[in-house]
Amino acid sequence: MAKILMTRRIPKKGIAILSAEHELDIAGDKSLGYEELFEIIDQYDGVLSMLSDKFDEPMIKRAKRLKIISNYAVGYDNIDLKAAEANNIIVTNTPDVLTEATAELAFSLMLAAARRLIEGDKFVKSGKFEGWEPLLMLGKEVSGANLGIIGFGRIGQAVAKRAKGFSMKIFYSQRKRNEKAEVEYGAKFLPIDDLLAISDFVSINAPLNAESHHLLNKERLSRIKNGAIIINTGRGAIIDEKELANALISGKVAGAGLDVYEYEPKITKELLEMDNVVLLPHLGSSTVKTRDRMAEMAATAIVDCFKSKMPLHIVK
Ligand code: DGY
Repeated sequence: MAKILMTRRIPKKGIAILSAEHELDIAGDKSLGYEELFEIIDQYDGVLSMLSDKFDEPMIKRAKRLKIISNYAVGYDNIDLKAAEANNIIVTNTPDVLTEATAELAFSLMLAAARRLIEGDKFVKSGKFEGWEPLLMLGKEVSGANLGIIGFGRIGQAVAKRAKGFSMKIFYSQRKRNEKAEVEYGAKFLPIDDLLAISDFVSINAPLNAESHHLLNKERLSRIKNGAIIINTGRGAIIDEKELANALISGKVAGAGLDVYEYEPKITKELLEMDNVVLLPHLGSSTVKTRDRMAEMAATAIVDCFKSKMPLHIVK
C-alpha cells in the first residue's frame, strides 16, 4: 500500500479508486500553498496534483519517495519534467476527456465577447432595458468570420469543428502542419504573423512552454487585424497580459474572452474594468461529466503505477 497525497478534493469516483488501493490523504478544499506542499511532499509515494501546484526542481528533489505525479489537467506546465525524469518520477495528465468541454468553453467565450452577452445580461438585470433599439449593443458577427486558431491539437481542432457549423473560415498556426486535420476542418495553415493579420477572432489553444511564452507580445499585438477579438483557454502566459490590456485600451483589439491568466489567480487590473472583456475563473474542463472522467483517469494512473502497469498518459 502506497501513501498518496491528493492536493485538492476531486470528484468521488477518483477518491474511491485511490482509497480502495492505497492510503490516501486529501489536503482539503483549498489550494495548498507552495510552502505547505513543500513541507509535506517528502512523506508521499504518489501525488494527484492540480495545475496550480508548482512542482519545480526544489520541490521534486525534496520528494524523495515520490514515484508519480498524476496531474489533474491536460496542461502540465506546472511541472518541471526534466527534474521529474532525473528523479525517476513519472508524470501523467488527463488528455482527450476534456477536449470537448474546453472547446465548448472557448466557443462560449467567443460568442459572449462578440455578441456582448455579459454586458447585455447586466443591462437587463440593472433595469436599463426599455425596449428594442435599432442601435443597442451592436456586436461582431461570428458567422462567416475568419478564425485563427493558435495550437491545432485536440482542443484546437475541436474548436474548428464548432467553427465549421458557423461557416467560419479557419486558419491555424503551430510548429508542424497537420494536413489530415486541414482536410477534415477545411483549415489553412499560416505562419502566426499572417494568421494574426487576417483573423477576426483568434483562439489560443496551445500548451505553455518556452516557445509559446508571450507568443502574443507587444509587437505581435500591434500587427493583429484591427478590431480582432482574442480568446484564451490555453494558458495565460501565452499572451503578455499587460500588453493585451494596452491593446484593448487603444482599441486595436476589440474584445477578449479569457479563461486563463498570466499570474493566475491574479488578473491585470485594467482587464477587470473593461466591458468588452469576458473573464472566467479557469472553467475549461469544468463540466460534471468531464471532471468525473478526469478524476477516474488521474486516479487510475496512480493505481496502475503501483501495480507496475504503465499508466496510459505519461508525458515526456
Ligand atoms: C487543463 O486541464 O490544462 C485546462 O486548463 C482545462 O481547463
